[in-house]
Order: sequence, then C-alpha cells, then structure tokens
Amino acid sequence: MMSILTIALCITFITSTTFDLYQICNCSQLIFQYDCFSASLQCNWDYDKKECYDKPCSDIYYQSACLKQSKNCYWTQNSCFNFTSCSHMLDSMNNNCKEKNYYCPQYYQTQCLSLDYIQTCSSITDPNICNYYQSLQGICIWNGQSCTLAQSCTQFFNNRSSSCPQEYCYYLQDESPHYIDCFPYKCSNQTTQSQCAQGIQTFGPYLQNIIGCYWNPQQNICQEYVPYQMNYTNCYLYSRGTYHWNSKNEENGDCVPCSQFQELLIISIFITILI
Ligand SMILES: *[C@@H]1O[C@H](CO)[C@@H](O)[C@H](O)[C@H]1NC(C)=O
Ligand SMILES: *[C@@H]1O[C@H](CO)[C@@H](O)[C@H](O)[C@H]1NC(C)=O
Ligand SMILES: *[C@@H]1O[C@H](CO)[C@@H](O)[C@H](O)[C@H]1NC(C)=O
Ligand SMILES: *[C@@H]1O[C@H](CO)[C@@H](O)[C@H](O)[C@H]1NC(C)=O
Ligand SMILES: *[C@@H]1O[C@H](CO)[C@@H](O)[C@H](O)[C@H]1NC(C)=O
Repeated sequence: MMSILTIALCITFITSTTFDLYQICNCSQLIFQYDCFSASLQCNWDYDKKECYDKPCSDIYYQSACLKQSKNCYWTQNSCFNFTSCSHMLDSMNNNCKEKNYYCPQYYQTQCLSLDYIQTCSSITDPNICNYYQSLQGICIWNGQSCTLAQSCTQFFNNRSSSCPQEYCYYLQDESPHYIDCFPYKCSNQTTQSQCAQGIQTFGPYLQNIIGCYWNPQQNICQEYVPYQMNYTNCYLYSRGTYHWNSKNEENGDCVPCSQFQELLIISIFITILI
C-alpha cells in the first residue's frame, strides 16, 4: 500500500507541480521587491526597511487578495474583515464558505465549518450530500452503493448520468455535436494570461489540488509551471502565491516554495525516486 502511494506521489510530481494553498507566502517572505509589488493587493513595501508587510484586512479590496490572507482575514459582502474563527464570520446566510476563507470550506446549519469538521467521503451515507462534497482528500462521488473519492473526469461521465464537473473538467464533443466524454483540463486549454495564472484544478486533496501553469509571452501560450525553470518575472506571479524568488536581486536567486515543508516533501520524493 505504502509503495503504491509513493509511486502515485512520484508520478504526480514528475508530471506536474501542484501548489499547496495551505502554505501561501506571507508578505514578510516576499523579500524580492518585485514579488511584493506583484502581491500589492494584500501586501505593502516598506521603502525604509526594504521589507514587505501585510496590509490590514480593511485595506484589501479584492476577494482573491483577501483569500490569500486567509490566516488573518475573510471576505464577505464585498469587503475584507479580520478573521477570528470559521463560525464567527458575518453574513451567516451566505453558504459560499470557501469563497470567504480557504480554511472554512463547508456550510452546515448557518455556519461555516473549520477543517476539523470536514467528513471523509466514505463516512457519508446520503447520496445528495456525497456528490461533489469537498472532503480534505478531494471531491466525493456516489457510485451507486457508497460514497467514494472521485479519481477522474471520465468517471463522472460513465456514471449513467453522463455528468461532467465543470470546475475541473470539460465535455468532449464529437462533430454531431454530442457529448461523448468528460476530460481533465490542461494548461494549454487556458487561453488568457489571467486564466493561466489560476492554474488547473484537480479533484483533490483540498487546497493542494492546483496544477501550476505559467504564461509564455513569446509564444502566447499557457504551459506547465516548472519551479526550477521559473525566473524572477514569473516565479511568484504564477504560483498562486505559494513560491517566491529567494533573493533581493534578479540574478542570484531561485524560485522556491514559501513553506519549508513543501520543499522537504519534494526532496524526500526525489530521494524515494533515487532509491
Ligand atoms: C511567515 O512565514 C514564516 C515561515 O513559515 C514564519 O516563520 C513567520 O512567522 C511568518 N510570519 C507571519 C507574520 O506570519
Ligand atoms: C483588525 O486587526 C488589526 C490587526 O490585528 C487591528 O489593528 C484592528 O483594530 C482590527 N480591526 C477590527 C475592526 O477589529
Ligand atoms: C452516479 O450514479 C449513481 C447511480 O446511478 C447516482 O445515484 C449518482 O447520483 C451518480 N453520481 C453523479 C455524480 O452523477
Ligand atoms: C484542451 O486541450 C486539448 C489538447 O491540448 C484539446 O484536445 C482539447 O480540445 C482542449 N479542450 C478545450 C475545451 O479547449
Ligand atoms: C523568464 O522565463 C520565461 C519563460 O520561462 C521567459 O519567456 C522570459 O523571457 C524570462 N524572462 C527573463 C527576464 O529572463
């Protein structure tokens, strides 16, 4: 079992880089001024100290920026507020919990629930709750008898109802045009720079399910994000805020994840591959 898991992890890492939104860079980690400017919706640059620091939540005017400060802030009613806990967010009738704060994904009885209260797919017995439930391991699907973790886009299509979850997959059509299958998106399917910067969502695990993409300005195409190939211009910008340039200047730096943990994981996987 363990070795299958290791192989699966290896394959994932060889083919694509996934971002970990639990480990978004905090402003103080953006030591390269250009990165701090790229994060200017949620961070400020201190010109005297040459440091990047958090904006107060009340000075953040965009949802995407407020969400990047999910440890401190949450978004509701078009404003960014100080975060205290998942159950103490304003506008309790708004059930779009993961659009208020990354760490409060599920709505239940007029409250958003923290990650501690999220169920696993296999513990869900009601098909209506199961389908598309956001568990920490990933999206759930009802297979007729039980609630299981979704593995592929085509699984939804083959499941009698011929559905296709649009957030993650697209319908494949023949010439007729009839829907004939459900396929996962690739970076090359993102046709604008801003779509490309969002990356590709996969089924799971929650918040660690974004395949990185970056915009190649020479060819005007969206390609897969490969951290060691990124330079100071595109490292932070296309990482959903999870990688940064680890130098104060352009030349001698590398594109590295903000969390030590993520770096260790990659190293340990490399070691596993070598063994
Ligand atoms: C930013 O992240 C670093 C590394 O994870 C951590 O040591 C530091 O305390 C964080 N700073 C703030 C203000 O959260
Ligand atoms: C929000 O938090 C900041 C920093 O902790 C604090 O200075 C400010 O007074 C708080 N604002 C409100 C409305 O509670
Ligand atoms: C999968 O099929 C089962 C049985 O046909 C059905 O109850 C369930 O709703 C389907 N799930 C999806 C996501 O379409
Ligand atoms: C996505 O890209 C693949 C190949 O790169 C292509 O075959 C497919 O038609 C594209 N899908 C959409 C919805 O653009
Ligand atoms: C940064 O990298 C991208 C692609 O990897 C490349 O198109 C761009 O020219 C590079 N920019 C600089 C300043 O090196």
